[in-house]
Amino acid sequence: MDKILVHGGVRLEGAVRIGGSKNSALPILAATLLTKGKCVIDRVPDLSDIHYMLTILGRLGCEVERASGVVQIRAEKILTEAPYEIVRKMRASVCVLGPLLGREKAAKVSLPGGCVIGDRPIDLHLKGFEALGATVMVKGGDILLEAKKLQGARINLRGRHGPTVLGTGNIMMASVLAEGTTDIEGAAEEPEVIDLANFLIAMGAKISGAGTQHIQIEGVPELHGANHTVIPDRIEAGTFLVAGAIAGNRVTVTRTEPKHLGAVITALKNAGFELSHTSDSVTISPNGSRRPLHIETLPYPGFPTDMQAQFCAMLATMDGTSVVTETVFPQRFMHVSELKRMGASIDLNNHRATIHGVERLSGAPVMASDLRASAALVLAALPADGITEINRVYHIDRGYEAIDEKLNALGAHIERVKS
Ligand code: UD1
Repeated sequence: MDKILVHGGVRLEGAVRIGGSKNSALPILAATLLTKGKCVIDRVPDLSDIHYMLTILGRLGCEVERASGVVQIRAEKILTEAPYEIVRKMRASVCVLGPLLGREKAAKVSLPGGCVIGDRPIDLHLKGFEALGATVMVKGGDILLEAKKLQGARINLRGRHGPTVLGTGNIMMASVLAEGTTDIEGAAEEPEVIDLANFLIAMGAKISGAGTQHIQIEGVPELHGANHTVIPDRIEAGTFLVAGAIAGNRVTVTRTEPKHLGAVITALKNAGFELSHTSDSVTISPNGSRRPLHIETLPYPGFPTDMQAQFCAMLATMDGTSVVTETVFPQRFMHVSELKRMGASIDLNNHRATIHGVERLSGAPVMASDLRASAALVLAALPADGITEINRVYHIDRGYEAIDEKLNALGAHIERVKS
């Protein structure tokens, strides 16, 4: 297993190009199953999660070609069973359920297990498929979906912790070929849901309201191939802005969409940083004096849970006491114990972290536990004294394209040790 060594104490400066959004690309690639026509998807990031999705599509019978960020897919004849040995590697594999059910009226996909950020049920996805007329069974660890036909329905997808992002995508994909109209209430409003809807519309689907809590889908008999460019990854952009906050003189993220970064930019401004933006870039400078924060993760447009760990790393070395409340995945605090190994002072009480800023962190051997927690450890290591050794970096490679190389181009000193 690769590890990375972060030599702390350097200052970052310069510009970094942001890649296509992982969380948009995954369901969009799955949506290509809905047509026999050729789809061309541009700005697909080079990440292991994307590789798993393309492998699943290949095993389902799709012809897949990939060259420098452009993926061409033709799903002429497809199977309906996704193989366990690949599905188990990535929770987002569940987003093939919707398109398989939509096109073939049948699907067999392994039930995803829990993960370190908590129990991650898919009950809302299954409730939606049932409402459309599918029979749902769980047998031998697999989810089996079957329907004679799919009929549009009114479905509320809001759960105990808010709306579901992939669930909203799955129900949109299952209902585009259903008979009649589907009304999704309590839909997720994330930009990735809008991106998926735009791709489906380009394929001939009739969808309105994406980006609001109420999405309406009017079923059509078939979809055709389409071209699409994936939106920029707002979490990658946010992570580099926090790198700029933690260790930067002046850092600019380019090829990004500032509108998608509203809550992150506001939080960084509230913490006392200076931020400016153009139509497709955001710059952070360390000017101004620091202020502790009170932040609460919420569904979009609120503060994203996928930026919570990185902010904990930043707040750990800022004067004063900050409070971070996690409402989307209440158990998502695996990074806290590792940050404490580096000298952070954090009290964890259920879904709330109280962070008492210290002057400096110090390098230590730490363990990456999930994607965003790993990114937080890299960020914390940038200004720390000495060397931080981060093990299990495959978690980072799931969601960040060459984060070490991109940070090094800004002036960081990170080595990757291949095993
Ligand atoms: C997506 C993102 C993930 C992000 C999350 C929340 C992808 C590939 N992943 O995950 O990076 O952190 O949105 O912004 O896009 N829930 C249920 N029942 C369900 C589904 C979800 O109770 O059927 C709960 C979850 O446990 C969680 C909350 O709803 O507490 C939100 O989860 P959800 O939006 O579904 O996350 P994902 O779509 O899996």
